[in-house]
Amino acid sequence: MQKRNIPLLNEEQRESMRRASRFNAQLMDFIRPQVLPGVTTGAIDQLVAEYTRDHGHTPACLGYHGFPKTICTSINEVICHGIPDDTVLTEGDIVNVDLTTIVDGWYGDQSETILIGNVSDETRNLVQVTFDSLYAAINVLQPGSKVIEIGRAIAKAVRPHGYSIVRDYQGHGIGQGFHQDPGVPHYPTPGARFQILRPGVCFTIEPMINQGRVETVLDKSDGWTVRTRDGKLSAQFEHTILMTEEGPEILTRTEHGPQEGHRF
Ligand code: MF3
Ligand code: CO
Ligand code: CO
Repeated sequence: MQKRNIPLLNEEQRESMRRASRFNAQLMDFIRPQVLPGVTTGAIDQLVAEYTRDHGHTPACLGYHGFPKTICTSINEVICHGIPDDTVLTEGDIVNVDLTTIVDGWYGDQSETILIGNVSDETRNLVQVTFDSLYAAINVLQPGSKVIEIGRAIAKAVRPHGYSIVRDYQGHGIGQGFHQDPGVPHYPTPGARFQILRPGVCFTIEPMINQGRVETVLDKSDGWTVRTRDGKLSAQFEHTILMTEEGPEILTRTEHGPQEGHRF
């Protein structure tokens, strides 16, 4: 099923993906300490836009299917694709900051959910379980793994907590295109049994985990913002990953961000 559409990168192309993802990770390290109480999501967007341009690179989201800003900022019950605006981040909030940059024609894509000041224990636990589920998925992968193993690992990590795994949005192949094959569902789905992660496949894993029910609602007025239907919280983490002969390589690993095993 569609494996013929999955690009396999040669060494030179892999280096291009490494460079793009490394810049994107550096951008995350630049912006993370500025995501603070009292700051607007619009101000964060502007800082990211300036840093990207100052380094000679191109924001991938701006103008993508008409998306109006450089980054996505998804606060609390917003699952994904939140549009930066004059909303002020407030103590107790969580915000997912999703950055994608084009470097010499190649895409790097990653996101983190950031805690704004002190948050409740329930909120912290949701963020922790979401973060851990991303690494649970990465850690089961080997060259030749099937995409369904990602969904199985995430389900195993998330289900005991009673949270829901978003089904309406998924990870994706990435390279010289933003969203390409294979689709990467974060729950086990039959189609993903036939998608094989051979060395040279580049893709994202980006679980969106809801505190309550799974249903999503797309904001009709802006056409982008996706919220939980029940109004409960949602968290997300994303990395760009290259499958190599040695196993998965996390291309968007940051120097200063939360590493595997981090406690929030
Ligand atoms: N960065 C998101 C992803 O992980 C996609 C955002 S598309 C946008 O795939 F248009 F909403 F910016
Ligand atoms: Co992505
Ligand atoms: Co993203």
